Amino acid sequence: MAFGKEKVKILDGPTPLEYLARASEDLGIRLYMKRDDLTPLGNGGNKLRKLEYSVKEALDQGATRILTVGGVQTNHGRLTAAAAAKFGFNCTILTFGRYPGEVSANLLLDRILGADVIIEEPQALTDSVLRAKAEEYSKKYEAQGESVYFLTLGGSDETGMLGYYDCAVELTDQAKELGIEDARVVTTAGSMGTYMGLYFGLKNEASPLSLTGIAIMPFDETKIDDANGQLQRAIAQYGFDFDATWEDLNIETDYSHGSYNNPVKEVRDAILYMARMEGILLDPCYTGKSFAGLMRMIEEGKIEKGEKIIFMHTGGMPGLYTKHHREAFEEELMDGIQIV
Ligand SMILES: Cc1ncc(COP(=O)(O)O)c(C=O)c1O
Repeated sequence: MAFGKEKVKILDGPTPLEYLARASEDLGIRLYMKRDDLTPLGNGGNKLRKLEYSVKEALDQGATRILTVGGVQTNHGRLTAAAAAKFGFNCTILTFGRYPGEVSANLLLDRILGADVIIEEPQALTDSVLRAKAEEYSKKYEAQGESVYFLTLGGSDETGMLGYYDCAVELTDQAKELGIEDARVVTTAGSMGTYMGLYFGLKNEASPLSLTGIAIMPFDETKIDDANGQLQRAIAQYGFDFDATWEDLNIETDYSHGSYNNPVKEVRDAILYMARMEGILLDPCYTGKSFAGLMRMIEEGKIEKGEKIIFMHTGGMPGLYTKHHREAFEEELMDGIQIV
């Protein structure tokens, strides 16, 4: 519970905060990983923390269906489908993008979890487009007697954000136990709910931890306006006694490789690095890209040698099976497969 808002229980308790010895030694930093990929439902990931709050709101509103939006391979959609199943809702994932030509990765898991998936032509995912489209479909369901709870892109609204406010408190306690109170938390920045929750949580609770986001898509003027809107709405709703704008945030925007969810050699290399050093699987759209960014930040001296870093593993592993990523990997990894 935060700010008087209640949540349902999806997580079993704090997720592990692990020291990664081999990667630390090799990279010359003290690298810890917050294992939010190990959250319980639907193959795990960051969205479950947000969903604990959003699902409670949907239950309180008497909804029968949760309708959410995203890209065709949205992890958020998959985890919404899992939470919807557990709490007895129908679920629709309204996606924007091209059908990949096969039912694989998150798309496959969405259907296994019982969600209805709609794929619309790609278009700019601005807040107003998403709301108008969601309303159009909600009306259809409501005409059939359903009551629809709309969950915004990535679950990144003021309600969902509280999941990462709680995580900031959890991390502060864990860091204290490990004697790394002055560590820097590094997280992937997409629809920004994770970053925002951590930002407000760390700041409002006066945590000594610092925070850096790594953008995995270009952050243009629209995206910055969105971020400012998120900040202002949260400040107004929760009555924080400080103001904040985009300039107060610490988001690295140099490592997005020009697009969202694109196949990038450097990102694949970062995924192989983590897999082969620590046996941990990152994903090509989010955590692999941000970890590749983190490695560059070390090279460029933006992260200092010996610095204590807590990298947020926010999940996303099914993304490895997405057609275009899988094919790029297949080409590079065939040399280690002997067919006799
Ligand atoms: C695996 C994974 N990591 C990170 C993110 C980014 O989180 P946020 O959208 O809260 O910025 C997402 C968002 O979909 C995700 O699926």
